[in-house]
Amino acid sequence: MDRPYIICHMLTSLDGKIAGDYLSEERAKYFTNKYEEIHEQYGIKAWICGRITMEKHFTLENELDLDHKNAPYIPRTDYVADVEATHYAIAVDPSGKLAWTHNTITDDDDREGHHIVEVLTERVSDAYLAHLRKKGVSYVFGGKDRLNFTVIMEKLKKLFSIDQVLLEGGGVINGSFLNEGLIDEISLVFVPIVDGTSNALSLFETSVDLQKAKPVNFSLMHVEQLDDGGLWMKYIKTSQ
Ligand SMILES: NC(=O)c1ccc[n+]([C@@H]2O[C@H](COP(=O)([O-])OP(=O)(O)OC[C@H]3O[C@@H](n4cnc5c(N)ncnc54)[C@H](OP(=O)(O)O)[C@@H]3O)[C@@H](O)[C@H]2O)c1
Repeated sequence: MDRPYIICHMLTSLDGKIAGDYLSEERAKYFTNKYEEIHEQYGIKAWICGRITMEKHFTLENELDLDHKNAPYIPRTDYVADVEATHYAIAVDPSGKLAWTHNTITDDDDREGHHIVEVLTERVSDAYLAHLRKKGVSYVFGGKDRLNFTVIMEKLKKLFSIDQVLLEGGGVINGSFLNEGLIDEISLVFVPIVDGTSNALSLFETSVDLQKAKPVNFSLMHVEQLDDGGLWMKYIKTSQ
């Protein structure tokens, strides 16, 4: 395969929601810890999240003050700052919004020190590229205006020797991968709580730019009962 093997690893409520009030329930803590434990257990060096998830969990309130007026042109070519990192955090951030202050994840017990790779379109500003270079954050281009995840995955394999990757939400990024037929396996931590919000995000979302994917078939590979009535289920894509 010219691209990494892709496992979509997610936590959902009984009604298939990936975000919502159910995550603030006391019981949910055990399952979010379990989610992180299973992430570790996979022993895979790279994981991917969409811009909104990265902002919510990792760049938080950080803001950038960039000098757009005086930024010199930077060619839209990939920038590889670390090929020997033990772990890679891949951020899908098409127009360059994420306010990274270091080239690794910081202030996170589980993912501290993971080297950041930004996935951008060529629309990104020169000032943002200069910021990434200054901080030593790697970046790859995934298209002029729109991202092509097949191309991006091939680049990750070629440039960073990434053979397997955990795709870890949110719904829009997961939907993008599903659309391109790029999900080989699904790993679901099932929380025995119903959120009950009809418009809460589900595992795979569509968007203005993103059409609904054709149905994709999976077969059960592993099921494990967790404490407190939860389940960990692994499904593999059925060859067609
Ligand atoms: N339960 C779980 O296991 C789990 C895991 C992860 C996240 N989450 C939750 O999921 C929520 C966020 O999910 P989300 O679906 O709103 O956002 P998301 O998938 O995290 O990020 C979406 C953003 O990523 C960029 N992006 C993704 N696909 C793209 C594409 N095909 N083309 C161009 N840009 C693309 C866009 O950034 P721009 O807007 O900058 O263009 C888009 O708005 C959060 O509440 C988070 O906590 C839950």
